[in-house]
Amino acid sequence: MDHGMSARQRLSWPDRVRSSVGARLSEPLYRLFSLVPQWEFGLSDHEVTRHTHVHGPLAGHRAVHLTDLHLDIYYPRHDRIVYTVRALQPDWIFITGDLLNVPEGLPHLFRFLARLRETAPVFVTLGNHDHYSGVPVTDYAELADRHKITLLVNQSVVVSTAKGELAIVGVDDPSLHRADLHCVPPQADHRFTLLLAHAPNILDQVKAHHAIDLILCGHSHGGQWQVPGIPTFWLPPGCNGRVSGRYESGEHTLYINRGLGWSFLPFRWNCPPEIAVLEWIEERSQT
Ligand SMILES: [Fe+2]
Repeated sequence: MDHGMSARQRLSWPDRVRSSVGARLSEPLYRLFSLVPQWEFGLSDHEVTRHTHVHGPLAGHRAVHLTDLHLDIYYPRHDRIVYTVRALQPDWIFITGDLLNVPEGLPHLFRFLARLRETAPVFVTLGNHDHYSGVPVTDYAELADRHKITLLVNQSVVVSTAKGELAIVGVDDPSLHRADLHCVPPQADHRFTLLLAHAPNILDQVKAHHAIDLILCGHSHGGQWQVPGIPTFWLPPGCNGRVSGRYESGEHTLYINRGLGWSFLPFRWNCPPEIAVLEWIEERSQT
């Protein structure tokens, strides 16, 4: 299976510099704070958010969206996430990148993904930190295949259901300009097309002709630190000012999940980790 490296676009010089700085800063900080796991703050409890989408053919189906795991060490909080996801009884689980930070995280990451796979099929895309880690895409692909997890790197799959179908498109990280939208399939009757992309700037890259019903992403960590009365002050490049929740542009709708992990410092403030639940419904109830 070709995991999209041929579709990789050339990085501009600013992006190369950014990628290099991000990689150089992220790894030593992760290694430093991994020595003192008890210093984590604001990461132990997650919030479950619920979202509905009107689409008759998929009505009754449910999915869980996770993102930004940054999972280099398997902590007890990861067990709690597995239990919550299991209790939600999803038909599918989607994960939009930033799976880990350093190569040593691979066994921990795949322990977590394998446990999720016991609940439902898991579809995964890559984020900027997955590339900063230096782990080759082929290694992610090989481990995903071994654990029966679907890694989508500028690829799509179509899942048939009783009354329709779900097209799941996964692009490589838009913040590193690796997303190639040629893999978006054409519109079809009874089809819901979901686009999984790591960074919110994908909303500026989709075109009117792309038949996409919903885009799921992460990358922002919801700002990670939200101080009352102070505007969001930390957002990585690739967010284009978008922090969390729902955004629209033209025909397209984007949902930004705050994610589960941390960047640079192991704490979140007024910005709890998020597990998003998507439910497809027949029609919106009148209130
Ligand atoms: Fe990211």
